[in-house]
Amino acid sequence: MDTIPTPFRVDSLPQPRIRNAEKRDAAEIAQIYHQATQDGLATFESFLASPDERERWVEEHRGRFPLLVAEWSGRLLGWASLSPYPIRPHIDGVVEMLIYIDRDFRRHGVGRELMRALQVAARESGHRKIIGRFVVHNDAGRTLCRQTGWREVGVHLKHMYLDGRWQDMVIVEYLIPENLK
Ligand SMILES: CC(C)(COP(=O)(O)OP(=O)(O)OC[C@H]1O[C@@H](n2cnc3c(N)ncnc32)[C@H](O)[C@@H]1OP(=O)(O)O)[C@@H](O)C(=O)NCCC(=O)NCCS
Repeated sequence: MDTIPTPFRVDSLPQPRIRNAEKRDAAEIAQIYHQATQDGLATFESFLASPDERERWVEEHRGRFPLLVAEWSGRLLGWASLSPYPIRPHIDGVVEMLIYIDRDFRRHGVGRELMRALQVAARESGHRKIIGRFVVHNDAGRTLCRQTGWREVGVHLKHMYLDGRWQDMVIVEYLIPENLK
């Protein structure tokens, strides 16, 4: 998939270009993730820590498991990915979403653009459901999901250790009706 046309405009930024990530994006992708760690909003504390791990992770996200980036003027504004959903027994057609926007570019509609593009990519890849999970106090994540057709499934209590304490985690899902037949 090349550049994906999206129906939403970014208010105070020119329209970012949304494209598949490439290996050269790995460092910026990790940097944006690291910001969310600092903000207490990232779910995997040691994720994308080493250069090798970053590049491997970008390379793994091809085909049915895309990694999209929003780029403007040569700079990455954010990224969104679909990964296999790690539960047992394995359920085909269900994938997990991650989305992270550079701290300097949040609240400009970039997350919504990327989310819409990711939903299109998931549909085109034949998946029937996307799962997301994040800390319960993540108002931005919850609002973005509400606006883009996700359903809140429920809340796991005291589920993950973040910022020095056990935190509740909200689970969200997005069904893709075209692939449910
Ligand atoms: C969640 C996140 C991806 C949203 O991206 P974004 O580009 O800032 O979101 P958008 O600008 O597209 O906003 C979408 C809607 O959410 C709302 N929103 C954004 N940030 C918000 C906040 N902190 N509190 C409440 N609402 C918020 C926006 O106002 C907008 O609604 P509106 O159109 O009615 O104004 C971004 O905040 C982020 O990267 N957070 C850290 C990582 C994370 O939490 N990821 C989600 C879990 S994987």
